[in-house]
Amino acid sequence: MFLQRSLCTFCVLTAFFSKAWSQETSTEPPEPSSSQDLYAAIGSSVELTCADGATEGLEWRRNGSVLVSGPVLHLHNTSLEEEGVYMCYGPKGDPVKALHLKLGYAPSPPKVQCWAPSFPLNVLCSWTQSPDPILPTHYISTYWHVDGGQVPFVRPCQRPREQDRRCVLEDDELYTLVPYLVNITAVNALGSATTTLSVLPEHIVKPDPPVNVKATALTGNKVQVQWSPPPTWPDPVNFTLKYNVRFHWGKANLASTMGPYESDSMVWSGLMAGRTYHIRVSAMDAMGYGQSSEWSDPVNITLPNS
Ligand SMILES: *[C@@H]1O[C@H](CO)[C@@H](O)[C@H](O)[C@H]1NC(C)=O
Ligand SMILES: *[C@@H]1O[C@H](CO)[C@@H](O)[C@H](O)[C@H]1NC(C)=O
Ligand SMILES: *[C@@H]1O[C@H](CO)[C@@H](O)[C@H](O)[C@H]1NC(C)=O
Ligand SMILES: *[C@@H]1O[C@H](CO)[C@@H](O)[C@H](O)[C@H]1NC(C)=O
Ligand SMILES: *[C@@H]1O[C@H](CO)[C@@H](O)[C@H](O)[C@H]1NC(C)=O
Repeated sequence: MFLQRSLCTFCVLTAFFSKAWSQETSTEPPEPSSSQDLYAAIGSSVELTCADGATEGLEWRRNGSVLVSGPVLHLHNTSLEEEGVYMCYGPKGDPVKALHLKLGYAPSPPKVQCWAPSFPLNVLCSWTQSPDPILPTHYISTYWHVDGGQVPFVRPCQRPREQDRRCVLEDDELYTLVPYLVNITAVNALGSATTTLSVLPEHIVKPDPPVNVKATALTGNKVQVQWSPPPTWPDPVNFTLKYNVRFHWGKANLASTMGPYESDSMVWSGLMAGRTYHIRVSAMDAMGYGQSSEWSDPVNITLPNS
């Protein structure tokens, strides 16, 4: 019964309308696949205009309900619930126009931060977008070197995938004392916004945390801690790193930090038998450029009761 009924509705509609329809099979008139997109900012007023010329007998409907008789539908202070397909019908019930109203915001300037985990090979920049523009938004990421007066050679800041909000700036002269400018531009149907950031790689060095952190209990309530440099750091020979080691036990505020060490191990003495220590290591460029890495994940060791 039901199947028959919906098939029949579909028959009538197919016969009645000449345009191609989407595959929807509700009893409401399906959306034409040929609807036009109309973008507007949330809270704005929107005018949906059916057609120039003939104005008699037109009406706007949404989901089958008539919203207004006439060629123009005014929406004020639009909200997200008003998104969707609006259909304009002619005097004989013939569809004249379908508009897909899509609401959101123009992008605001992206919040960009850049750091150099692989100095001097490359710089990473990542960004966030707030508030969420809701509408599909894409990004254009470029950079250039600011060298006195010349026309800048603008290069793409590479993104592994188009939708990534993170890009890589590469050059052979990252040692430079002249900054780069990074341009991150957000674009959607309602507008675009740019953030331009001046970046001096040496000042934004920030290694990734050290890896392979190991703790070994030694006799006499001592612990030896060993680690390896972050694998993303390209040249630990010519660009040495220094390390800080942090021990904590009990509450996180009972922590002590020792360092810096230019080696890849240290021994901590004067610890308490039976106590569990959580050990983390961070790395920093040995010349003191930029910032320390984040702390490595904790390695835990319980000292044997002697
Ligand atoms: C229109 O119909 C669709 C599908 O039945 C439903 O999800 C939507 O909430 C309806 N919109 C309005 C405004 O009634
Ligand atoms: C617009 O709508 C929002 C919520 O939908 C409401 O808070 C606001 O007061 C309205 N503004 C005007 C000017 O009516
Ligand atoms: C930043 O990039 C956008 C998009 O490519 C471009 O339109 C804009 O002019 C650039 N801004 C500057 C300051 O170069
Ligand atoms: C360190 O620098 C020297 C001289 O520039 C270079 O030959 C060597 O390959 C570098 N070391 C590493 C590990 O890249
Ligand atoms: C070490 O201890 C911390 C805090 O109790 C815990 O979150 C972490 O998972 C432990 N790590 C290992 C490797 O067991």
